[in-house]
Amino acid sequence: MTGYFEPLTVGKIGLPNRLVMGPMTRSRTPAGVVTELTARYYTQRAGAGLIISEATGISEIAQGYADSPGLYTDEQVRAWRTVTDAVHAAGGRMFAQLVHCGRIGHPSLYADGGLPVAPSAIGSGEQMFTPEGMVDRPVPRALTLDEIASTVGDFVTAARNAVDAGFDGVELHAANGFLLHQFLADGTNQRTDAYGGTIANRIRFVVEVVGAVSDAIGPERVGLRVSPGITFNGMAGAESDTAELYPALAQALSAVPLAYLHVNELITRDTTRLIRAAWNGPLLLCAHPTAESFPSTPAIGRPALEEGLADALVLAELWLANPDLVERVRTDGPYNTADRATFYGGDQRGYTDYPTLAD
Ligand SMILES: Cc1cc2nc3c(=O)[nH]c(=O)nc-3n(C[C@H](O)[C@H](O)[C@H](O)COP(=O)(O)O)c2cc1C
Repeated sequence: MTGYFEPLTVGKIGLPNRLVMGPMTRSRTPAGVVTELTARYYTQRAGAGLIISEATGISEIAQGYADSPGLYTDEQVRAWRTVTDAVHAAGGRMFAQLVHCGRIGHPSLYADGGLPVAPSAIGSGEQMFTPEGMVDRPVPRALTLDEIASTVGDFVTAARNAVDAGFDGVELHAANGFLLHQFLADGTNQRTDAYGGTIANRIRFVVEVVGAVSDAIGPERVGLRVSPGITFNGMAGAESDTAELYPALAQALSAVPLAYLHVNELITRDTTRLIRAAWNGPLLLCAHPTAESFPSTPAIGRPALEEGLADALVLAELWLANPDLVERVRTDGPYNTADRATFYGGDQRGYTDYPTLAD
């Protein structure tokens, strides 16, 4: 039976344990540039088998939230380098999660004040927090074929920038209702060209992005996150064929020796099993088999690890609140509880001041 303290090889890097820190947006990077505080936060968590960074925009139009980081300007790349250097000096490993938010955007985030973009002109019905209060996210405009090609290019450039910034690899964000996910789901993708309609067409954009990024930086440095059947970001009911869609994607990607596939499971264990059967590489699982599994814990993830459904367990909230999570899993707790009021924005409070056991 596999346990949390057995090493695992992901791409070309060795993880000393199977406790992965999940990607978490913290909205503490003004103008998209990470700070010394960001470096401290991630370095405190360098004991993780792997750290996956907060969602990081590949371009300006990719941004969906105020104060989220990017990897598309020299200043952003230089700033991230200080974070990865500090994490590596502390013995850690780190992938950058690359995101294009698609329709989860807003004109106030772009210099030209234009509309966000998506596969189709279908709004999310969601709102966004701004200093002026909550505002509606507008109906996006549909990407042209030329823009789809240039967006693939933006992912490639950001992935190269991530390598230049010292990351060990990138995780492409095809989960949680953002652009890549919007292409996968038939409710958000109603295109009538080669990128919409059948499952083979809807997975095309994701497969192209994965292929182009793999060609640019090596497949062993590329992971992909999916979230079958999630309901937030306006995705409730957006997938009519979850059980067929994700195994087809996993199968299509099995031709590429990627670092890993990462499944953010939301009471969708049956689909996780189908993905596992279709996927021949390492599988990272953010385990939520039942409605009672939020936030996830090592105890919730252990059965999936032991039965070989997952190769490593991804935890988010627990890592946020427990910088020394590896030691705490070794001693079977106790665990700090996350303060939800300080998840997004603000200062060091609820960010770098969670105590360790030694404290
Ligand atoms: C504060 C916060 C920010 C998050 N930001 C991201 C993100 O940037 N990218 C992403 O893929 N998921 C994000 N998530 C989702 C988590 O990665 C994870 O899937 C979710 O919290 C469930 O895992 P858990 O039960 O271990 O917390 C975020 C979650 C939290 C709590």
